[in-house]
Amino acid sequence: MSTVITGIGELTTNDDELGRLHDAAVVFDEGRVVWVGAAVDAPDADERVDAAGRAVLPGWVDSHTHMVFAGDRTAEFEARMAGEAYAAGGINVTVEATRAASDEQLRANLDRLADEALRGGTTAFETKTGYGLTVDDEVRSARVARSRAESVTFLGAHLVPAGMDADEYLVLATGPMLDAVVPLVDAIDVFCERGAFDEEQSRQVLRAGQTKGLGLRVHGNQLGPGPGVRLAVEHGALSVDHVAFLETEEIGMLADSWSGGARGTVATVLPACDLSTRMPLAPARDLVDAGAVVAIASNANPGTSYTTSMAFCVATAVLQMRLTVEEAVRAATLGGAIALGRDDLGRISVGARADLQMLDAPSVTHLAYRPGVPLTAAVWRRGERVV
Ligand code: NIG
Repeated sequence: MSTVITGIGELTTNDDELGRLHDAAVVFDEGRVVWVGAAVDAPDADERVDAAGRAVLPGWVDSHTHMVFAGDRTAEFEARMAGEAYAAGGINVTVEATRAASDEQLRANLDRLADEALRGGTTAFETKTGYGLTVDDEVRSARVARSRAESVTFLGAHLVPAGMDADEYLVLATGPMLDAVVPLVDAIDVFCERGAFDEEQSRQVLRAGQTKGLGLRVHGNQLGPGPGVRLAVEHGALSVDHVAFLETEEIGMLADSWSGGARGTVATVLPACDLSTRMPLAPARDLVDAGAVVAIASNANPGTSYTTSMAFCVATAVLQMRLTVEEAVRAATLGGAIALGRDDLGRISVGARADLQMLDAPSVTHLAYRPGVPLTAAVWRRGERVV
């Protein structure tokens, strides 16, 4: 069944030729966008929806989450708000709870979070393993993730599990564990940070992923300066995520990675995580000014960022990271799609997947102008109305 949404007050297409349209219409059929233009010219369709002047934009593409887990870390959060610093070791608390949970419990928790994200306009998300850290627990995490996520990343190199030596664990994580998860995942990731994996160990993980043909991601420069960005760019990673502590040279490297039409490395900023860990905000303004490709993601996880709200991340990116609303919306839609290596998501133009959200507002500016207000009026995924 085809659908036409007409009467769109402001349509964000993320298409360089179409730009931002007013008094617009979109037609989709069989899950794909088939027509975009002025409302007066819109062709007819089986179903007609009147946006009555409201704004329509692509669904959020959340390119960094850790939503396969059990338990929560309220006590750790309270301690942090009372002045304690975040440390990578907290991950072990979630690893214990995740190992103790059944597949059904993990699946139910993922469904709860994915449904919550969808109600907030997220039509595609990536999620990672990384709270299992045994062969069996990483495989079942990947399987649970696959049941719901658009893209699944293997993060066996999240932390050295309690009771194991780092070198011994890496032999497992880059050997039998990787072999077992490869059929279920799209990319490999490493937490390159003090308290997790150092430069040489991170290189080992990325090389192992490369030999399996996986996309590469790096958690880098989250808790302090480090080699994460350099390693990511050197290895042609799809994205390097967190990037809170960047030198000017590293910002230049990320921008240069796209020069000459090359597929570069996306800098993924995680505003909710920066706030929840009381870390400096990633320098998103400097990254955009330098010409880097930026994505905004929620980093939904129980330790450092227990939110699925991309609208909150966009508002924070505008109000505190000083992006314009247009830049922030683009980063949370098209930027996420590029980080996932997908050209059918994050835009509203002919051929794209019909993943759209309508706001209960006349323009995307309201996302930052009215922070914290749930503005999602309707959501379509693959052309089907889901909210
Ligand atoms: O992206 N940085 C590493 N991983 C998560 C945190 C996970 C946790 O603390 O449970 C992150 O922030």
